[in-house]
Amino acid sequence: DKFTEFLKELPKCEHHLHLEGTLEPSLLFSLAKRNNITLPSHFPPSVEACNERYSNFADLQDFLDHYYIGMSVLITEEDFYELAMEYFAKAAKDGCLHSEVFFDPQGHVERGIHVDTVVNGFNRACKDANEKFGTTNKLIMCLLRHLPSAAGLETILSVSHHFENGTIHGLGLDSSEKPFPPELFVECYAAVKSRHPEVGLTAHAGEEGDHTFVTNSLDLLKVTRIDHGVNSIQSEDLMARLAENRTMLSMCPLSNVKLQVVSDVAELPIRSFFEKDVPFSINSDDPAYFGGYILDNYLAVHTRFGFTVADWKKIAINGINGSWCSESRKSQLL
Ligand code: ADE
Ligand code: ZN
Repeated sequence: DKFTEFLKELPKCEHHLHLEGTLEPSLLFSLAKRNNITLPSHFPPSVEACNERYSNFADLQDFLDHYYIGMSVLITEEDFYELAMEYFAKAAKDGCLHSEVFFDPQGHVERGIHVDTVVNGFNRACKDANEKFGTTNKLIMCLLRHLPSAAGLETILSVSHHFENGTIHGLGLDSSEKPFPPELFVECYAAVKSRHPEVGLTAHAGEEGDHTFVTNSLDLLKVTRIDHGVNSIQSEDLMARLAENRTMLSMCPLSNVKLQVVSDVAELPIRSFFEKDVPFSINSDDPAYFGGYILDNYLAVHTRFGFTVADWKKIAINGINGSWCSESRKSQLL
């Protein structure tokens, strides 16, 4: 309808998307075959069985247990390239002009894949997507918080050349939140901030963890963005701080429903964030698993909150201003 067309045309940016979370079941099984990977016997054996499994995640950990097995079919640089290109094509089709995408190097290195195989495949896709679709695309490397901080530091050192030449543009923190709070990763963030001051810092916080996970990510990790941040609503002081400092929350509505953070998109505090002027963007997180890409997430928000055209323009502008692209690219997007 008319609003779908309007939301499609709106200058959208994606800030919270895990490339490994774009692995559709069909590609997963074709890569398993191509690479001779035998999936464990408890893994759903078909596309249909995967889709059934994806409609029943109990929580974040239940999803992650499946997601880390899924990514084990990715072996060659070409696999990583194809995965990312399929995502960039879908994002472009949805009218997403700029994407800053996560990847989990430790999920591959621990299986014996060289980190450069991952980064080079993804980086080539970023460049080719720019030529083919005119979109701009940046890579954010995430550390897995269920692994020790020392492993995170090793990973950081192993990609220092990619930080230096700008191939990796940001650092993030993902995986199981509540047992692994931000304070465990102070050294990792401090190392990147001191060695590579131009690298953007963000962290998943306040998805399942409470508002103190958000505040501690700001205070201790010095992040300038928060991924999810739903539970920021628990603290008025934090809300005021986010608004004042223009710290953007990268929200993922369909993800939050699938992982049972809320039972419906309508329960998300999006109206309060908007009214208190807390900047947020709308994102797809792991779209192959959560049933929708960026435009589906925008539509889910629109049908629940009924923002006006003017409201949506403000949301789009906040997303552009919260992006880690050059000022000249931002003015192109506006
Ligand atoms: N890894 C992939 N998606 C994630 C999410 N929503 N939260 C934490 N870790 C993740
Ligand atoms: Zn995420």
